[in-house]
Formats: sequence, C-alpha cells, structure tokens
Amino acid sequence: MCGIVGYIGDRDACPILIKGLRRLEYRGYDSAGVALVGGDGSLNVYKCKGKIDALEHFLADKDTAGTVGIAHTRWATHGEPNDTNAHPHFSADGRIAMIHNGIIENYRVLKDALTAAGVTFRSETDSEVLVNLIEYVRDTEGCTLEEAVRLALKKVVGAYAIAVVEKGNNDKIIAARQSSPMAIGVGKGEYFISSDASSIVEYTHDIVYVEDGEIAVIERGKPLQLVTLDNEEAEYRVTKLDISISDLEKGGYPTFMLKEINEQPRTIVDCIRGRVNADSGRVILSGIRDNIDRWLAARRVVFVACGTSWHASLIGKQLFENICRIPAEVEYASEFRYRNPVLFPDDIVIAVSQSGETADTLAAISLARKAGAFVYGICNVIGSSIARATDSGTYVHVGPEIGVASTKAFTGQVTVMAMMALAIAERKGTVSKEYYDEVAQGLLSLPEKLKEVLELSGQVADLAKIFTYAHNFIYLGRGYNYPTALEGALKLKEISYIHAEGYPAAEMKHGPIALIDAEMPTVAIVTPDVTYEKTLSNIEEVKARGGKVIAVMAKGDATVPGITDYVIEVPAVIDCLMPIIVSVPLQLLAYYIAVYKGRNVDQPRNLAKSVTVE
Ligand code: M6R
Repeated sequence: MCGIVGYIGDRDACPILIKGLRRLEYRGYDSAGVALVGGDGSLNVYKCKGKIDALEHFLADKDTAGTVGIAHTRWATHGEPNDTNAHPHFSADGRIAMIHNGIIENYRVLKDALTAAGVTFRSETDSEVLVNLIEYVRDTEGCTLEEAVRLALKKVVGAYAIAVVEKGNNDKIIAARQSSPMAIGVGKGEYFISSDASSIVEYTHDIVYVEDGEIAVIERGKPLQLVTLDNEEAEYRVTKLDISISDLEKGGYPTFMLKEINEQPRTIVDCIRGRVNADSGRVILSGIRDNIDRWLAARRVVFVACGTSWHASLIGKQLFENICRIPAEVEYASEFRYRNPVLFPDDIVIAVSQSGETADTLAAISLARKAGAFVYGICNVIGSSIARATDSGTYVHVGPEIGVASTKAFTGQVTVMAMMALAIAERKGTVSKEYYDEVAQGLLSLPEKLKEVLELSGQVADLAKIFTYAHNFIYLGRGYNYPTALEGALKLKEISYIHAEGYPAAEMKHGPIALIDAEMPTVAIVTPDVTYEKTLSNIEEVKARGGKVIAVMAKGDATVPGITDYVIEVPAVIDCLMPIIVSVPLQLLAYYIAVYKGRNVDQPRNLAKSVTVE
C-alpha cells in the first residue's frame, strides 16, 4: 500500500523516480507526486490525483531539475484521492517535504497539539501531521533534520516508511521505517530508496533492508548511516538481490496477470528445483530438515495468512492433517492478532504471504513469537519483512508477482505446503511409500500438466464471453478443492467486480441454493476424489433448479458432460495436488471475464498488491 522511492546521486533524479513509481504502481494508484531539490537548493513539489501517467503529463512543462528527490504513489487511507491529499506533503512553511507509506495512528492528538501551536494544515492526511511535527521539532529544538525526524518519530504511534528532504540541502535524504517496508539500494556514488527492492534492480543489486525503528541518513558522497530511535548506531548488511529486469516486465503479454498465469509451468519448476529429486523422488527442504525435531514434536500447526494466502493455507491444513497427521488450524491473521489465541510451546505457527509485507500477518507473527511459538514462513519475496521475522521458512521461488490478483504465488504456496507435508511425513512415518511416491511424482508432473491446462486458454476465453453478463457467480468444490472454489471466486470478484461466492458444494443446500436460477452461473469443481459422487449430486441439485453449470473436471470423465452445460477438462493428478491444476482455468476465467468487461486487471479499483496497513 503506497509506494515510495528516493534517489540521491549524480544523475537527474526525476526520470529515475518516475520509473521507480511505475514499478511500484501495483502498491496503489490513487495519486502520485515527486519532490525535487535543485542544485540551487530550491524544493519543487509536484503531485496530482490519478496514476503515474497523469503525473508524468503534469510534469511535462515543470522544472524537474535536481539530483536528489523523493516520490510517492498512493493508496488512500486518510482523505479521498485528490491533488491535496497526494504526497509528498510539505511542512506549513514549505521547507520540508515528506513521503509516507503507513498510518500514523495517533495523528489526531498530534494534529490538535500542532494546531494549538499555530500550525495550519492543507490536507486531511495523517502524513501531513508528521511532516509538520518534524518541522516543529526542528524549529523548537534547533537541531539537524535527522535529529528532528528521530525526535518526531519517538512521539508517533503507527506504521511508517518515510523519506524526507529539505529546501536548501541537496545533499541529504532522511528515511525511516516502522512496520512498512523499506530498502535502500547502494550504487556507485548514489543511493536509491524503495518500498520494494525489486523496483531498483536495474540500478543496483546491493540492497540494505532498513529494520523497524531505524533511521537512515543518506548523504551524497558519504557512507550510509543507520541509527535507532534511541540514537544508537545500527549495524547493517548489504544483501545481493537475485532478480533480473525481465522478471519485472510484461514480456510481450498485455498484462502482468496474464504473464503470471502463463508462467506457472516454469514457476513450479523453480519452486520444486533442488527440493524434489527427479531420480529418487525424495523431497528435501532445508527448513524442515534443519528443524526436524521441532516438526516431529509439533502438537499442532497454525497457519496465519490473508486473502489468497489464506486460501492456500486451507489446503495446507488438509495436507498436514492427511499426510503428516498433525492437527492444523487456519486463522485470518487480522483476527488472530486481536484475539488471545491459545498457543502451546510445541505449536508451530506457519505464516504464509506472497509479499512478505502484509501488516496483519506480520502482527500475527509477533504475537505468536511473544507466546513462545516457533514461527515458520512461506514467503515469495526474498528478504521481505516476514521472511526476516520468522524463525525459519521455505521460499516459494515463483519470481516477482506484480499483478494485483495473486496467481502463480497461490500455486507455488500449495506446492511448498505439499513438499513440506511429504518431508515431515517421511520422518514421521505417517504415509506409505506408495503414497509418498505418488505425491512426489505428482509434483514432478505438474509443469507438463500445467502446460496442457494453459492450452485451454482459448476455450476458457470463449466461455468467459458467454458469462460476462452475469452479476453473481457461485463456485462449488469439496475437500482439497473447497479452498480452490474460494480462490476462484476471489479472483473473479477482485478483477471483474462481479459478486462471487465460494462454497463447499454440500453446504449449498443449507442456504445458497435459494440463489440458484438461470441468471446465476455455478462453477463446479468435480475431480476424482472421495467426494466425487457426492459432488455429482450437488451439481444435479443446481441443474434441477434451472442453474447453468460450468464444470472443471478431469480429462476423460464421461459422466460430468452429461449433467452440466459446459466443461473444462483438465489433466488429473493425485487429489491433494489437484488445486494446483484446477486453479489455473479459474484464474483464466476470471481474467477473460474481467477483460471483456473492460476492467484494468493489473490495477483493479480500490485494491493494492501489498496490504501494509491494517
Ligand atoms: O502478500 P500476501 O500473500 O500476504 O497478501 C495477502 C492478500 O492481500 C492477497 O492474497 C490478496 O488477497 C490478493 N489480492 C489476492 O489476489
């Protein structure tokens, strides 16, 4: 939520900042702006409502000279998206400019105090309160900018990643972080700041992750300096980021979402590489191997996650219970963090997150750690906050996911969970060799099967055309595919704005069946498993009430076509891996319906990719 970028060096800052904003646009696109400090010390702030295109257009006839600057793309929290509420905000006397990602929770109290001291505000944002607090401290204490930032932040409750520049000083940016991501790229005589390290890889692969409660003093020609809120020097490490620019481009596809859907045969190869041995069929994960005693002694696993990662966790629960016989629970991180959950010292909390930056999941981790639980992360973004906050973990390794709707991360997360379950089960002796081999071979067969599924794109696009009229959809599935139904419905909702419900197929008759009519299509997942026959009956119930049914079924099934209106035939794999196959046509269905409705699938309204605020 909100993307921030900064640059200081010898080059023109503005084009670098705009490029950085474009890479971060997935984090929010309500408004955008830049602040540039010119060689003469002038501070120019330009901002406007809308996307980066609008900002670039706005900048066309402006003075954008300067080799130091900060920029922001906003996902609105406090105050509607308009020019005034756009970042950067500047202090009442126009001397200090600041960009902010996060929420200042005690902004009302601070605003009242500053108003009483004579400060006037232009916007409705919490961020403008902070920049004025910095100026107030600077004036009353007569201190340096970094000291003013430090003292001001000591009064703040909330989450922030900020970057601050000052009129008359084109040699310095001050940045700070608490619960919102911030990376600093270290180049040759130049520094880059970003909410997401991957956005600056075309300039440098050397990254310093700023930790919570740290302030970065970034000065031209000087080594980077980090201090804590208590003014103690903080040590830092330069990490090499292993991402190429092509991972961040659309690569000929019209959208990132379509690119990411189509990448899945390759991303699953990347996910299982070095983990499932193609010759022996053995699964080895270092995060399990290195902590095997804990896994063997685990009383229970508790998954904490949000959104699509929560859906993957529902599949994880079934994998852990069925394959390793470890009781498993799945919690919305946002609920878990505010409850008083019962956690035992031998519980393992598994935090699942694509971005590794989701605020609620981070808070759930901190609660679990305080309760003494061992916390394991399943993250995609390497070096992300969640990856660093967990005791151990397994990376999903599906590469940067930029489309707001999560696709390849979901299939990667389920793949990781299946590998984890197998690795633990082998040591616990909870599955037979035959079963273990079948799942391991199933994992190895996924890339080829996913290629086959993607060949159905044209057929799914034709189906999407037929159903673009619908205002409501219901998705049904059972067992491992109940979460797949939830995920299919979420995809449709978020990018097409069509209302969709995912439901366990048999539960439908306890209420939602009342909704069935010829206008509301049902997407039924009916693949070979223990509930296959039962799901056929559930489909008959829909048909008996005049409903239209699109079935996702295993190739060669002779029964399903006879009782449904349309079928999508996918290659079969063992039931516990079927969600990885089935979710792909559901992603495509949502995608094409959204495209036919003229939606912006990579930037759906009201959404942002990483939810770094509560
Ligand atoms: O980065 P995370 O996996 O923690 O994100 C969780 C959700 O915000 C995310 O899955 C969201 O629901 C996506 N828009 C779903 O497509």
